[in-house]
Amino acid sequence: MKSGVILISGRGSNMRSIVEARTGLEVKAVISNRPEAKGLEWARSQGIGTVALDHKAHPTREAFDERLAAEIARLEPDLVLLAGFMRILSPAFIARFPRRILNIHPSLLPSFPGLHTHRRALDDGERVHGCTVHYVSPDVDRGPIIAQGVVPVVDGDDESSLAARVLAVEHRLLPAAVGWHCAGRIAIDAGRVRVDVPMGRADDALTVPQAGAPAR
Ligand code: GRF
Repeated sequence: MKSGVILISGRGSNMRSIVEARTGLEVKAVISNRPEAKGLEWARSQGIGTVALDHKAHPTREAFDERLAAEIARLEPDLVLLAGFMRILSPAFIARFPRRILNIHPSLLPSFPGLHTHRRALDDGERVHGCTVHYVSPDVDRGPIIAQGVVPVVDGDDESSLAARVLAVEHRLLPAAVGWHCAGRIAIDAGRVRVDVPMGRADDALTVPQAGAPAR
Protein backbone atom coordinates (compact mmCIF):
# COMPACT_ATOMS: atom_id res chain seq x y z
CA MET A 1 0.00 0.00 0.00
CA LYS A 2 1.23 3.51 -0.83
CA SER A 3 1.60 5.96 1.99
CA GLY A 4 1.09 9.68 2.17
CA VAL A 5 1.43 12.78 4.29
CA ILE A 6 -1.28 15.44 3.98
CA LEU A 7 -0.47 19.12 4.49
CA ILE A 8 -3.30 21.46 5.47
CA SER A 9 -3.74 25.01 6.75
CA GLY A 10 -7.34 25.17 7.94
CA ARG A 11 -10.65 23.38 7.79
CA GLY A 12 -9.27 20.29 6.07
CA SER A 13 -12.30 19.19 4.08
CA ASN A 14 -10.10 18.01 1.20
CA MET A 15 -7.99 16.01 3.65
CA ARG A 16 -11.20 14.46 4.93
CA SER A 17 -12.30 13.53 1.41
CA ILE A 18 -9.06 11.58 0.94
CA VAL A 19 -9.26 9.81 4.27
CA GLU A 20 -12.89 8.83 3.68
CA ALA A 21 -12.43 7.66 0.09
CA ARG A 22 -10.91 4.30 -0.73
CA THR A 23 -7.87 5.66 -2.52
CA GLY A 24 -5.37 2.97 -1.54
CA LEU A 25 -3.39 5.51 0.47
CA GLU A 26 -2.28 4.97 4.03
CA VAL A 27 -2.24 8.43 5.62
CA LYS A 28 0.79 8.48 7.86
CA ALA A 29 0.31 11.99 9.22
CA VAL A 30 -1.45 15.30 8.76
CA ILE A 31 0.78 18.33 9.13
CA SER A 32 -0.39 21.93 9.45
CA ASN A 33 1.53 25.18 9.39
CA ARG A 34 -1.26 26.61 11.56
CA PRO A 35 -1.51 24.95 14.97
CA GLU A 36 -5.14 26.09 15.31
CA ALA A 37 -6.21 24.42 12.02
CA LYS A 38 -9.59 22.75 12.54
CA GLY A 39 -8.57 19.86 10.31
CA LEU A 40 -5.99 18.72 12.86
CA GLU A 41 -8.74 18.00 15.40
CA TRP A 42 -10.63 15.88 12.91
CA ALA A 43 -7.49 13.95 11.92
CA ARG A 44 -6.78 13.23 15.59
CA SER A 45 -10.34 12.02 16.07
CA GLN A 46 -9.65 9.46 13.34
CA GLY A 47 -6.51 8.23 15.05
CA ILE A 48 -4.23 9.83 12.46
CA GLY A 49 -0.95 11.27 13.71
CA THR A 50 -0.75 15.06 13.49
CA VAL A 51 2.06 17.58 13.53
CA ALA A 52 1.57 21.32 14.08
CA LEU A 53 4.50 23.23 12.67
CA ASP A 54 3.90 26.95 13.10
CA HIS A 55 5.51 28.81 10.21
CA LYS A 56 5.51 31.99 12.32
CA ALA A 57 7.90 30.33 14.76
CA HIS A 58 10.56 30.03 12.04
CA PRO A 59 12.81 32.94 11.09
CA THR A 60 12.71 32.39 7.32
CA ARG A 61 10.71 30.53 4.67
CA GLU A 62 13.75 28.30 4.08
CA ALA A 63 14.04 27.44 7.77
CA PHE A 64 10.37 26.44 7.91
CA ASP A 65 10.60 24.45 4.68
CA GLU A 66 13.67 22.62 5.93
CA ARG A 67 11.93 21.62 9.15
CA LEU A 68 8.82 20.59 7.23
CA ALA A 69 10.88 18.52 4.79
CA ALA A 70 12.65 16.81 7.68
CA GLU A 71 9.32 15.90 9.32
CA ILE A 72 8.01 14.48 6.06
CA ALA A 73 11.23 12.63 5.15
CA ARG A 74 11.15 10.93 8.54
CA LEU A 75 7.82 9.34 7.56
CA GLU A 76 9.11 8.23 4.13
CA PRO A 77 5.80 8.77 2.31
CA ASP A 78 5.22 7.89 -1.34
CA LEU A 79 3.08 10.98 -1.73
CA VAL A 80 2.93 14.48 -0.23
CA LEU A 81 -0.54 15.99 -0.63
CA LEU A 82 -1.13 19.71 -0.48
CA ALA A 83 -4.80 19.76 0.47
CA GLY A 84 -5.64 23.36 1.28
CA PHE A 85 -2.05 24.10 2.30
CA MET A 86 -1.77 27.87 2.01
CA ARG A 87 1.97 28.35 1.80
CA ILE A 88 4.34 28.68 -1.09
CA LEU A 89 7.00 26.00 -0.90
CA SER A 90 10.59 26.77 -1.86
CA PRO A 91 12.27 25.07 -4.86
CA ALA A 92 14.61 23.28 -2.41
CA PHE A 93 11.63 21.68 -0.69
CA ILE A 94 10.03 20.64 -3.96
CA ALA A 95 13.30 19.16 -5.22
CA ARG A 96 13.37 16.80 -2.23
CA PHE A 97 10.18 15.04 -3.30
CA PRO A 98 10.27 14.91 -7.10
CA ARG A 99 6.95 13.92 -8.74
CA ARG A 100 5.64 13.05 -5.30
CA ILE A 101 3.88 16.30 -4.39
CA LEU A 102 0.28 16.76 -5.49
CA ASN A 103 -1.72 19.97 -5.11
CA ILE A 104 -5.40 20.83 -5.41
CA HIS A 105 -6.00 24.37 -6.63
CA PRO A 106 -9.44 26.01 -6.80
CA SER A 107 -9.35 27.21 -10.42
CA LEU A 108 -8.93 25.85 -13.91
CA LEU A 109 -5.19 26.34 -14.18
CA PRO A 110 -3.40 28.05 -15.81
CA SER A 111 -6.19 30.59 -15.17
CA PHE A 112 -6.12 32.21 -11.75
CA PRO A 113 -3.05 30.90 -9.97
CA GLY A 114 -2.64 32.29 -6.44
CA LEU A 115 -5.34 33.53 -4.10
CA HIS A 116 -8.98 34.70 -4.34
CA THR A 117 -9.65 32.56 -7.37
CA HIS A 118 -13.45 32.61 -7.07
CA ARG A 119 -13.65 36.37 -6.76
CA ARG A 120 -11.33 36.79 -9.74
CA ALA A 121 -13.34 34.36 -11.87
CA LEU A 122 -16.52 36.34 -11.06
CA ASP A 123 -14.84 39.69 -11.71
CA ASP A 124 -13.66 38.46 -15.11
CA GLY A 125 -17.12 37.26 -16.09
CA GLU A 126 -16.06 33.63 -16.54
CA ARG A 127 -18.90 31.29 -17.49
CA VAL A 128 -17.10 28.19 -16.23
CA HIS A 129 -14.78 27.73 -13.27
CA GLY A 130 -13.41 24.75 -11.36
CA CYS A 131 -10.43 23.08 -9.81
CA THR A 132 -7.19 21.40 -10.81
CA VAL A 133 -5.10 18.60 -9.36
CA HIS A 134 -1.49 18.74 -10.49
CA TYR A 135 2.00 17.60 -9.64
CA VAL A 136 3.90 20.44 -8.04
CA SER A 137 6.77 22.13 -9.82
CA PRO A 138 8.82 25.06 -8.45
CA ASP A 139 6.56 27.69 -10.10
CA VAL A 140 3.54 28.54 -7.99
CA ASP A 141 0.41 26.61 -9.04
CA ARG A 142 2.19 25.08 -12.03
CA GLY A 143 3.19 21.54 -12.90
CA PRO A 144 1.76 18.62 -14.90
CA ILE A 145 -2.04 18.66 -14.67
CA ILE A 146 -3.61 15.35 -13.67
CA ALA A 147 -7.28 16.29 -13.74
CA GLN A 148 -9.64 19.22 -13.74
CA GLY A 149 -13.23 19.56 -12.61
CA VAL A 150 -15.50 22.11 -14.26
CA VAL A 151 -18.55 23.88 -12.84
CA PRO A 152 -20.81 26.51 -14.38
CA VAL A 153 -20.86 30.07 -13.09
CA VAL A 154 -24.55 30.92 -12.75
CA ASP A 155 -26.46 34.18 -12.52
CA GLY A 156 -26.56 35.45 -8.97
CA ASP A 157 -23.40 33.65 -7.93
CA ASP A 158 -21.27 35.28 -5.28
CA GLU A 159 -17.89 34.24 -4.00
CA SER A 160 -19.27 31.84 -1.43
CA SER A 161 -21.83 30.10 -3.67
CA LEU A 162 -19.18 29.60 -6.34
CA ALA A 163 -16.62 28.38 -3.79
CA ALA A 164 -19.10 25.83 -2.45
CA ARG A 165 -19.84 24.51 -5.95
CA VAL A 166 -16.13 24.15 -6.72
CA LEU A 167 -15.39 22.57 -3.33
CA ALA A 168 -17.89 19.77 -3.96
CA VAL A 169 -15.92 18.91 -7.10
CA GLU A 170 -12.58 19.17 -5.28
CA HIS A 171 -13.84 16.47 -2.93
CA ARG A 172 -14.33 14.12 -5.88
CA LEU A 173 -11.35 15.11 -7.97
CA LEU A 174 -8.58 14.88 -5.38
CA PRO A 175 -9.42 11.35 -4.16
CA ALA A 176 -9.71 10.22 -7.79
CA ALA A 177 -6.25 11.58 -8.62
CA VAL A 178 -4.74 10.10 -5.48
CA GLY A 179 -6.27 6.74 -6.36
CA TRP A 180 -4.76 6.84 -9.86
CA HIS A 181 -1.38 7.81 -8.46
CA CYS A 182 -1.49 4.99 -5.92
CA ALA A 183 -2.53 2.47 -8.55
CA GLY A 184 0.43 3.48 -10.74
CA ARG A 185 -1.93 4.65 -13.48
CA ILE A 186 -0.29 8.01 -14.08
CA ALA A 187 2.56 8.54 -16.51
CA ILE A 188 4.19 11.88 -17.28
CA ASP A 189 5.45 12.28 -20.81
CA ALA A 190 7.16 15.55 -21.81
CA GLY A 191 5.35 17.41 -19.04
CA ARG A 192 1.92 15.99 -19.94
CA VAL A 193 0.06 13.53 -17.79
CA ARG A 194 -1.45 10.36 -19.19
CA VAL A 195 -3.92 8.57 -16.94
CA ASP A 196 -4.46 4.91 -17.71
CA VAL A 197 -8.12 4.46 -16.83
CA PRO A 198 -10.97 3.15 -18.99
CA MET A 199 -12.29 6.12 -20.99
CA GLY A 200 -15.78 6.05 -19.48
CA ARG A 201 -14.44 6.35 -15.97
CA ALA A 202 -11.83 8.92 -16.89
CA ASP A 203 -14.44 11.13 -18.54
CA ASP A 204 -16.64 10.90 -15.53
CA ALA A 205 -13.95 11.98 -13.12
CA LEU A 206 -12.00 14.37 -15.32
CA THR A 207 -14.75 16.69 -16.39
CA VAL A 208 -17.27 16.37 -13.54
CA PRO A 209 -19.78 18.58 -15.34
CA GLN A 210 -22.74 18.53 -12.93
CA ALA A 211 -21.30 19.64 -9.64
CA GLY A 212 -24.21 20.58 -7.48
CA ALA A 213 -27.31 22.56 -8.17
CA PRO A 214 -27.19 26.18 -9.29
CA ALA A 215 -26.78 28.53 -6.34
CA ARG A 216 -30.28 29.97 -6.51
C1 GRF B 1 -9.84 24.56 -0.99
O1 GRF B 1 -10.72 25.22 -1.86
C2 GRF B 1 -8.48 24.43 -1.61
O2 GRF B 1 -8.51 24.14 -2.97
C3 GRF B 1 -7.95 25.84 -1.37
O3 GRF B 1 -8.39 26.19 -0.09
C4 GRF B 1 -9.55 25.43 0.23
C5 GRF B 1 -9.22 24.62 1.43
O4 GRF B 1 -10.31 23.93 1.92
N1 GRF B 1 -6.52 25.90 -1.57
P1 GRF B 1 -10.15 22.73 2.94
O5 GRF B 1 -9.19 23.18 4.03
O6 GRF B 1 -9.64 21.54 2.20
O7 GRF B 1 -11.53 22.52 3.49
